[in-house]
Amino acid sequence: SQFHEFLAALPKCEHHLHIEGTFEPELLFELAAKNNITLPADKDAAFASIEALKARYLTFANLDDFLGYYYIAMSALIDAADFEALAYAYFSKAASQNVRHAEVFFDAQVHTERGVAFETVVTGLKAAQRRAEKDFGITTELIMCLVKHLPLPDAMKTFAHARDGGFFADGTLLAVGMDSSEAPFPPKMWTELYDAAKAAGIKRTIHAGEEGPADYVVQALDLLDAQRIDHGLRSFEDDALIKRLVEQKTLLTTCPLSNLKLQCIKSISEFPLRKLLDSGVRFSINSDDPAYFGGYILENYCVLQDTFGLTVKEWESIVTGAVLGSWCSEERKKQLL
Ligand code: ADE
Ligand code: ZN
Repeated sequence: SQFHEFLAALPKCEHHLHIEGTFEPELLFELAAKNNITLPADKDAAFASIEALKARYLTFANLDDFLGYYYIAMSALIDAADFEALAYAYFSKAASQNVRHAEVFFDAQVHTERGVAFETVVTGLKAAQRRAEKDFGITTELIMCLVKHLPLPDAMKTFAHARDGGFFADGTLLAVGMDSSEAPFPPKMWTELYDAAKAAGIKRTIHAGEEGPADYVVQALDLLDAQRIDHGLRSFEDDALIKRLVEQKTLLTTCPLSNLKLQCIKSISEFPLRKLLDSGVRFSINSDDPAYFGGYILENYCVLQDTFGLTVKEWESIVTGAVLGSWCSEERKKQLL
């Protein structure tokens, strides 16, 4: 429709995108073959073919059901060229949807745990970032996510490696975040990590309020001094929390198709878009894991438009909020506005 063309043309920022979540089944099978990695088709028939895997991705029971596939797929990423191919494919797709600036997560520990060096991951991602900026004019940043399903000392070790190796100081990494399974791992478990990041002057975000309650968002603010909240879907269960998010201008990086696919909401009409707009909370609309959830950023914008019928003015305020919530230089913000 005409409105979709308007949405396609809007200059966008993406703040909630797991690079491993852009691993399309075609590239997964290609890299698995190249690297002699056997996908576990003996244990799960979904890995038998690209078509079977795509069919399996159509429905997930919950976050952990999805994560099982997401972590297995990662095992096909071995050398720097694999990470470069993965990230360049995403940047080129994002640029085609008029994403001008992207802040991208990667799951460092999941790669180092299986014997891929931290430097290999970062070298490949950086090569893609450089090429994408040159080819498409898109600016990109990396946010290192630590995973909640591994113990705190493991997260501390990976964080210290990145900090002491100068990866934050030299601008290779922009910020730290946390992701993976939520409910059993409340934010209060990670104070040591967030204290260390804050002490080193490093920006901090965390996935909270996706499957977990609004109280996890409160913990992230109170105990971790998180400056951004990834998802924050359930924040509207707590009016005082919303008031605080508005006052502090904390960005919620929301992901509607992800919430739908992971059964956090039963239909897009349950996504709190009206509340986000009416409360004045700063938020952006993002794709999370587009290879798994049936759409990149534009498809997320379009499904919201089809459900909520926003005005041009409302969309303009959404994309402006996304620029203001970005962690880029003031100079870059001016270019994006
Ligand atoms: N890792 C990748 N996508 C995620 C999500 N939506 N929530 C938590 N961890 C994730
Ligand atoms: Zn996410």
